Amino acid sequence: MSDLQTIRKPVATELEKFQPYFSNFLKSNSKLLNIIIFYLLKQKGKQIRPLLVFLSAKMFGTVCDKTYQAAAFIEMMHTASLVHDDVVDESDMRRGFWSINAIWKNKASVLLGDFLLAKGLLLAVDNQGYDLLQIVSQAVEEMSEGELLQMEKARHLNITEQDYYQIIRQKTAALMVACTKAGACSVGASESDMQKMADLGDCMGKAFQIRDDLFDYDASAQSGKPVGNDIIERKMTLPLIYSLNNCSKSDRRHIIKLMRKKQKSPTDVQQVIDFVMAHNGVEYARQQMKNLSDKALQILATLPQNEANQSLVDIVSYIVDRKK
Ligand code: IPE
Ligand code: IPE
Ligand code: MG
Ligand code: MG
Repeated sequence: MSDLQTIRKPVATELEKFQPYFSNFLKSNSKLLNIIIFYLLKQKGKQIRPLLVFLSAKMFGTVCDKTYQAAAFIEMMHTASLVHDDVVDESDMRRGFWSINAIWKNKASVLLGDFLLAKGLLLAVDNQGYDLLQIVSQAVEEMSEGELLQMEKARHLNITEQDYYQIIRQKTAALMVACTKAGACSVGASESDMQKMADLGDCMGKAFQIRDDLFDYDASAQSGKPVGNDIIERKMTLPLIYSLNNCSKSDRRHIIKLMRKKQKSPTDVQQVIDFVMAHNGVEYARQQMKNLSDKALQILATLPQNEANQSLVDIVSYIVDRKK
């Protein structure tokens, strides 16, 4: 597997310039916001989305101002979604450190998310980036819908595999679609190429979320997020959905009862994990992820063959094999 360092190579200069460009947009008149943003910018995350934007642009042309605007806008929406997501998921850890809500509580986190959203919108509007605005707003709309559907399904514990795919397409893949599309759009790619890029982002994004959901079952991972948190939050992801569809009625009843518990003990969580392991839920999810990554590679094979394309190929295997 290539590491991110190698994958970044074709756009290394651009990504370096991107850092100060991104931080610069987040200045605020509020002292508290500046303190929180300073903390936020210290833990940058993997920055997969800006990387996708730059590579998608470079595959079809030369990175330009519009590409930077797209990368910054999308990374802001991503950051906002994580800040809000940790409130929704009551998660106290993010990127290996305390989450914003763990330190500054929910109120400040909600407002910070709104601030990031506004900054992103301004960045696009100030540059008359209406096509960008269209692409990203559509993704943000889907992300909210996806998170809400997930919430509904967690309440009733009645999620099907089809629901799961709708959730991950909306909450995660939609923004990756925005990355690949906006990147290509920023350098004037054709409509048919943009459609291919959208399909590519969709496969990558779904595979990315399945990998993320697998972290919840993997104590050896260094994801910087707590293990078992999805189970605690009643979030049923692919490994569990599959296992529940392939077990005895009594096992099913027992596991659903555990999932329903308001206060789950570490033993309860472990029981769910053991159940999934015993029913090959992890293996099944891995196979589904592999199918998606194969599809992504097939799409890339039909696009311009260059250094950027090779890096996109490498990202696909990175997504599947990543440890964080
Ligand atoms: C986390 O995304 C949210 C999901 C869609 C699973 P990343 O794993 O890209 O988060 P950072 O930005 O690198 O922390
Ligand atoms: C992805 O869902 C979050 C967003 C797309 C905002 P998760 O809830 O699984 O993400 P993590 O695991 O908290 O990063
Ligand atoms: Mg979460
Ligand atoms: Mg997760």
